Amino acid sequence: MLKLLFLGDIVGRPGRDIVVDRLPGLRRERAIDFVIANVENAAAGAGITGSIAKSLLESGVDAITLGDHVWDQRGWENEITEIERVCRPANLPKKCPGWDHLVIEARGFRVAVFTVLGRSFMNMKAEDPFAAADRMIEQLRPQADAIIVEIHAEATSEKQALGWYLDGRVTAVLGTHTHVPTADATVLPKGTAFMCDLGMTGPYESVLGRAIEPVVQRFIDGMPRRFDVATEDVRMSAALIEIDAKTARSEKIELVTVRR
Ligand SMILES: [Fe+2]
Ligand SMILES: [Fe+2]
Repeated sequence: MLKLLFLGDIVGRPGRDIVVDRLPGLRRERAIDFVIANVENAAAGAGITGSIAKSLLESGVDAITLGDHVWDQRGWENEITEIERVCRPANLPKKCPGWDHLVIEARGFRVAVFTVLGRSFMNMKAEDPFAAADRMIEQLRPQADAIIVEIHAEATSEKQALGWYLDGRVTAVLGTHTHVPTADATVLPKGTAFMCDLGMTGPYESVLGRAIEPVVQRFIDGMPRRFDVATEDVRMSAALIEIDAKTARSEKIELVTVRR
């Protein structure tokens, strides 16, 4: 049995700090073999930088994924290929820099991971995530024992549809982007672990990680404001999956919440 932890969107310094403080202990306590993290909001709430990516990789994250905020930090498009173990969404236009998948290995077992962006209520130029997943799975099958698909999307319907579409073909389909963990962690009938959203790793006394008051006022009057990252009720939110090493099917999935 192999254990894989997938952390939902890391938001700002509070999100980074709890990962650095608590991930090494959690890895040991739960005997976790693989850790993957979405870091699209790690730098001041939007995007990622090279130095932040490196510090997260040094704290026990094995593979880093991104979402629609992938290009928010200036210069990241030049840095992305200089750092190993970072990939950008696989269904972005082909000419975008960065790897479209990663393969990590532990105990002789290889796990491939890639992200697809949804297209419903998402403002990105992205290829059909279903077709992209088909293409990536075909490409990765010979290189990996298990494949983990991250669906970074707004609509729960699009995420559930992709879960059913890939059931039995990959080890897990895990949702990110909405920053709110869902109570639907399940193993689908053909052995694919599924969850609509892993929730964020960041401050929960907030609106999706941002300070509450400016967001409330923006909804009321529509005036632009600075949305600073919030600071309180910081949690790490992740899915922990148990994978059968022989079949690469998921045996179990649970939501793991760690409070500061
Ligand atoms: Fe996010
Ligand atoms: Fe996102």
